Amino acid sequence: ILRSPQALQLTLALIKPDAVAHPLILEILSNKFLIVRMRELLWRKEDCQKFYREHEGRFFYQRLVEFMASGPIRAYILAHKDAIQLWRTVMGPTRVFRARHVAPDSIRGSFGLTDTRNTTHGSDSVVSASREIAAFFPDFSEQRWYEEEEPQLR
Ligand code: TYD
Ligand code: MG
Repeated sequence: ILRSPQALQLTLALIKPDAVAHPLILEILSNKFLIVRMRELLWRKEDCQKFYREHEGRFFYQRLVEFMASGPIRAYILAHKDAIQLWRTVMGPTRVFRARHVAPDSIRGSFGLTDTRNTTHGSDSVVSASREIAAFFPDFSEQRWYEEEEPQLR
């Protein structure tokens, strides 16, 4: 499926503290995507606030920030020809009640605990994917990656 690297799209996936070592989530992820980069880290609260600044002021913002800084997370760069949309579909809807009802087999539908403890994050657009990839992997260059990996991907 990964014949032409030019046709690959990249997205940022996070495994949140409630799911960081979940074997099934890691299996789903590596079965469906090419894993380009991975790091495990502990986020400071200020990092979470910055990453989720679009939600500042919403009722869940404080809870979200506390939760995301409460334990280790994993950040992945995933590649697929439709990486952004596919990862969002594989994750399922944001809210756990909806996820369980409309997408019971999705990651959030299967393993989500609450609206906040919902296992995973995925970029929602090309613009946010490149911003979020740069936030976690500041040295990563998409162009260089294509050039270096192209022989192996062919
Ligand atoms: P959002 O960007 O709307 O969802 P997604 O993660 O699917 O892109 O919200 C970001 C995170 O904020 C979400 O993953 C969990 C948290 N959140 C809540 O805790 N409660 C809520 O009602 C919503 C909408 C989000
Ligand atoms: Mg979002």
